[in-house]
Amino acid sequence: MLKLLFVLPSLMFLALLSQGPAAPSAPGAPPAQTAPPAQAAPPDQTATPDQAAPPAQAAPPAQAAPQNNPVKPTAESQAHAKETYKIDCAMCHGENGNGKGDLVGDMGLSLKDLRDPATLADKSDGDLYTLIHDGKGKMPAEGDRSKPDDVWNLVVLLRSMAKK
Ligand code: HEC
Repeated sequence: MLKLLFVLPSLMFLALLSQGPAAPSAPGAPPAQTAPPAQAAPPDQTATPDQAAPPAQAAPPAQAAPQNNPVKPTAESQAHAKETYKIDCAMCHGENGNGKGDLVGDMGLSLKDLRDPATLADKSDGDLYTLIHDGKGKMPAEGDRSKPDDVWNLVVLLRSMAKK
């Protein structure tokens, strides 16, 4: 009987020990779940609108139509065109395009008013390019004195004179 009194508590102790390790392992798991939300990817979507823009800039095919002015005038290119006009054109067509330049009397010219929209109404940009480059009648050819882009800018300048 005495032996049993010792054995029972030690059995119960062993029983507690064997239960013990099993219990703590269960509550350990949950903390791992917090990570996934960090993957949200909204910054990628902001790139798409930028990608849409470049294709719109692709407009150079204008060169295919020689009747249309291929240059995009800038303040600088128009300033240059005005200088060229003063030097090469104004002595006949007048500073402001009124057709009363210094040479008109001497040469017996009768020039149309470039400020009148009707003067250039029936001429295409290509017509004006050819006229300036090749000259016509008593009008001298600009020829190679001006680069093609500069002649096109003169055409833009002439059009802007007519609007005023
Ligand atoms: C020596 C004088 C003279 C000079 C310089 C001159 N032109 Fe003319 N221009 C004329 C004459 C003359 C005509 C008319 C040609 C014709 O129809 O026989 C003319 C015609 C034109 C026309 C067509 C409108 C019109 O009046 O029949 C334009 C546009 C024109 N010139 C622009 C220019 C430009 C731009 C320059 C300078 C690069 C220039 N001209 C230089 C004499 C001149």
